[in-house]
Amino acid sequence: MASLIAVRGGNPLEGEVKASGAKNAALPAIVASLLTEEPLVLSGVPRLLDVETQLSLVEALGKEVRWEGQRVVISGALSRDEAPAEIVSRMRASFLALGPIVVRLGRARVPLPGGCVLGARPVDLHLHILERLGASVELRDGVALARVGRMRGRRIWLRYPSVGATEQALLVGAVIPGETEVVNPAREPEVADLCGLLRCMGAEVEVRPDRIIVRGRRELRGCEYRIIPDRIEAGTYLLAGAITRGRVRVEGAVPEHMDALIALLEESGLEVSRGEGGVEVDARGRSWVGIEVETAPYPGFPTDLQPPLTAFLTLAQGKSILRETVFESRFGHVGELLRMGARIGVHDRTISVQGVAELKGADLRATDIRAGAALVLAALAAQGTSRISGVEHIRRGYENILGKLALLGAEVWEEESAT
Ligand code: UD1
Repeated sequence: MASLIAVRGGNPLEGEVKASGAKNAALPAIVASLLTEEPLVLSGVPRLLDVETQLSLVEALGKEVRWEGQRVVISGALSRDEAPAEIVSRMRASFLALGPIVVRLGRARVPLPGGCVLGARPVDLHLHILERLGASVELRDGVALARVGRMRGRRIWLRYPSVGATEQALLVGAVIPGETEVVNPAREPEVADLCGLLRCMGAEVEVRPDRIIVRGRRELRGCEYRIIPDRIEAGTYLLAGAITRGRVRVEGAVPEHMDALIALLEESGLEVSRGEGGVEVDARGRSWVGIEVETAPYPGFPTDLQPPLTAFLTLAQGKSILRETVFESRFGHVGELLRMGARIGVHDRTISVQGVAELKGADLRATDIRAGAALVLAALAAQGTSRISGVEHIRRGYENILGKLALLGAEVWEEESAT
């Protein structure tokens, strides 16, 4: 029996929740453990499905994993060069292991990744980077087979500032001789966090506005490192406060990581306060107007918040336009929002939303992590009860989502479904 998330909508959310550690910073940090035999201690790691998947990947490769409260200790040696297809098929970030395995063991077999279905999501940039740095890579029957040649740092220009590709280059650059210079890198805070971790492990990393330069070391050391707070999770809770006309403060959220969302909420007519220790939105008794936005690499508006923002804009006054420039088909939430009474159209990569006065609860299906979050937000604001299936997608990216929402006064619970 699968489970459902049930939501009785209509309560303004009020109060404070604490941001968890960033999923997208924890996933590459776990892979970085493959670069040392000394223990790596990561704190602030969120306990969610994608993190469990990444930990099971490093375990399958020979490492030992031990949780100590919110800290995870990863120790032991990388001893196997094959990543199990069953693990890699669950999550795209597992592909980051390809570079570290091949530099440390001389060869690697990593199946092409699965994960959220958001369009083509190729790995050509990852493969290009490894080849530039001296590995040979071949694709055979859906598996990437890599071998080392003479690996040495070089300049790599990325035609697109891909988060994963930048991280792949940094992970490999940290343990090969010479200077690896990534030009046009991703600038996401999670990439900066990986730079911080690699420095803590002994690599020399210089972050400039248009490039990142890594000077590698054959042996990295273990260290203790705290993962940054999750700006996407924090943004989801701010939008939950906003869409329910409530007041929500996310403690620990880093305001500078959330400039785009804060600016858009303000532009829509809501009040947001940014403080040292968090961010708060106050939408009590307020209405908001439609806005125009396009997703873009950081510091642009994050594609991961596009579905939750779309949900919020279904209740705006007037029309909104959201252009999705990062993934070509990130629209899994749109059909479901329509079933709740939203007025939305998708043309090419553009979503147009005509605000409506209210949404109605419905039976809904989450198709990926952030589409799932969007449906939870819409359900919180809707009249009546919604039941959301595909809960496993939501659990991939959100730690204790029901507990946190309940803390804010939401009526949410889990149910077993017969199907
Ligand atoms: C990461 C995030 C994900 C977020 C995305 C964009 C993690 C674990 N996941 O995913 O939540 O939505 O950044 O902010 O950090 N591309 C290529 N070739 C490649 C790699 C990527 O064409 O080799 C394209 C992708 O298809 C996509 C775009 O580049 O259109 C952005 O992808 P990328 O930045 O790599 O995202 P991920 O690292 O997969």
